[in-house]
Amino acid sequence: MSWFTNLGITIKFNIILTVCMVSLFIFGAIYGYHRQQKLIVAGEVDNARIIARQIIEAREYMSLVLTDEPARNYNLVPQVVATRIAQRITKNTSYYVRQISLRFRNPANRPDPYEEEQLRGLANGSTKESFQVIQGAKGESLRYLFPMMADNSCLECHGSYESAPLFVRQRFPKGHPSYNYHPGEIIGAVSVTIPLAELFGAMSVNLRHDLIIRGGMFLLVLLVMGYVIHQAVINPISLVARSITLVARTGTFSDRIPQRGKDEIGQLIAAFNELMAELERKTEQSRESGERYRNFIRMARSAVVTFMEDGKIVISNEKAERLFGKSRQEIIGEDFYQLIESGGRLREKIGARLASGNDGMIVETREHRVRGSSGDWRPFEIALSASKSEGKTMITAILRDMSEQGSRRI
Ligand code: HEC
Repeated sequence: MSWFTNLGITIKFNIILTVCMVSLFIFGAIYGYHRQQKLIVAGEVDNARIIARQIIEAREYMSLVLTDEPARNYNLVPQVVATRIAQRITKNTSYYVRQISLRFRNPANRPDPYEEEQLRGLANGSTKESFQVIQGAKGESLRYLFPMMADNSCLECHGSYESAPLFVRQRFPKGHPSYNYHPGEIIGAVSVTIPLAELFGAMSVNLRHDLIIRGGMFLLVLLVMGYVIHQAVINPISLVARSITLVARTGTFSDRIPQRGKDEIGQLIAAFNELMAELERKTEQSRESGERYRNFIRMARSAVVTFMEDGKIVISNEKAERLFGKSRQEIIGEDFYQLIESGGRLREKIGARLASGNDGMIVETREHRVRGSSGDWRPFEIALSASKSEGKTMITAILRDMSEQGSRRI
């Protein structure tokens, strides 16, 4: 995941937001699609049920009121009436309505395999109606079946062969399976087929438009948020980062970032500016004190040298240069301990004091002999003090000439 942590904040933010929103969109789209599909199917089942009820009512009414009319006019047979009404109702629609029976008289009413299976299920009496979305050659379609029960009026033509009207007996001879129904027995069903492919197709188009609109809106939000984050957070933070880099490179603390607002970023900038001001003040102070120190050494009437722990001289004054008979260039970098008699012992003594953590004034030794410019050994009193600068120990030595009168104080 380190590649992710290294990305810019806007990119990170966009990736997280995109992943969240895309999953939400996909989830929403799938959920919405299924919910709409369910609603469509439920609506179409209602339509199919109404059609079936109308057809069954028409048949039952005809069956109830007819006497011998069908004998003269076959078009008045309840089945034929129901079929015509169904045809008229569904004219100019994509609905397809049939009345079917397992023991059909008219081959046109032979159930297809799906209807046959459902009719057998309905005959068990387990359900009042059956419907299912079927995937066919022309896409999905809703198949709906509503059973028809034989009542006494139906038995007039669907009861025993002997009791059937002559025109029925003539058409359907003795032994035809369409006789011998009992009251309450399922005699057939109204079968309604409603193609759904077109509806579902329109629904997917709607969903796709919806997704495009939502995607566009999301992109807009992403752009606006990206711009806002850039302006409010990223730009000021990069300004701070740039300023800090500048400080690290140049060592100057004069840079300030323009203040804008009092939010968290504003507070950060204010804190940064304060820090810079404080650092600037501090460095100015230490520069001044360094300057004062150097002036002080230069003015001192005794020889003064400052050297590192290993004896290497880093600062010297004029007196010291005169004492050792060397120029400043020559004396800087020299080993202090080499310039005095028994320097080795002094080095050990100082080393031991420093190791014990004793800072400040550490040693005052009397009667040291220092080789002067003329090569002779002269007695000196040396006062040593240690101080820390940038983590390094510096030792300042003041050499007081014991043979000279009047120069006892620095
Ligand atoms: C007047 C006689 C008569 C009466 C009453 C009658 N039917 Fe029929 N029924 C027929 C005839 C004739 C056919 C065959 C129609 C055709 O040729 O399409 C038929 C066909 C059917 C069919 C279609 C299946 C097939 O056999 O082709 C069903 C279902 C049906 N009748 C149910 C009923 C029901 C339910 C009732 C009572 C509500 C009823 N019928 C009352 C004479 C009758």
